[in-house]
Amino acid sequence: MDDFTIRSVREEDFLKIAEIAKKCPPMATERNSIYHIFTKFFKKTSLVVEKSDGEALGFLIGFISQDDPADAYLHIICVIQNFRGRGIARGMMQRFLETVSKSGCRRVYLITRPQNKTAINFYKGFGFKVDKTGEIIEINGLMAVRDYNGPGDHKVVFYKLLE
Ligand SMILES: CC(C)(COP(=O)(O)OP(=O)(O)OC[C@H]1O[C@@H](n2cnc3c(N)ncnc32)[C@H](O)[C@@H]1OP(=O)(O)O)[C@@H](O)C(=O)NCCC(=O)NCCS
Repeated sequence: MDDFTIRSVREEDFLKIAEIAKKCPPMATERNSIYHIFTKFFKKTSLVVEKSDGEALGFLIGFISQDDPADAYLHIICVIQNFRGRGIARGMMQRFLETVSKSGCRRVYLITRPQNKTAINFYKGFGFKVDKTGEIIEINGLMAVRDYNGPGDHKVVFYKLLE
């Protein structure tokens, strides 16, 4: 197995992160400006993974809510295809959960498309539960919130309570 390092993002990482995102189907990518916001203002809760030769393999971007600092939100986690199944996402998730827990968060939220079975399996493995608040429809046996991100854009909302 290749060695890899998980570190907090630096501002200049945003284009590197945008490039990784393009290699992360089935996930939709963001505009560069969104990645720049995370690498500039949410360094503590955003991570990048690199190989020993500096090649970037994945990233996680998230933040702690200003409205309720007990809530954290994980916006995107992804690992490039050739390096999946080696525990890289697990490492990033563990680090994110530790960071937000130490910062006083008590809940972590995230959303996913009901079709993204790999991600759903990954989140469930970490003990995330489906939030059934809102107008719920069943898709692929999962409870999704209808039109969560606009007409037809149904999402499964996950949450995890921290100790
Ligand atoms: C979801 C994703 C981040 C997982 O990354 P990864 O580095 O391959 O995951 P890990 O190797 O750390 O796996 C951790 C656990 O996730 C689950 N998992 C990972 N890949 C899986 C797969 N293909 N099928 C089922 N479960 C899977 C397993 O429970 C696994 O634990 P195990 O190895 O003990 O069985 C990766 O598949 C990815 O980048 N997908 C595309 C981007 C995306 O959809 N992101 C989420 C939406 S924002």
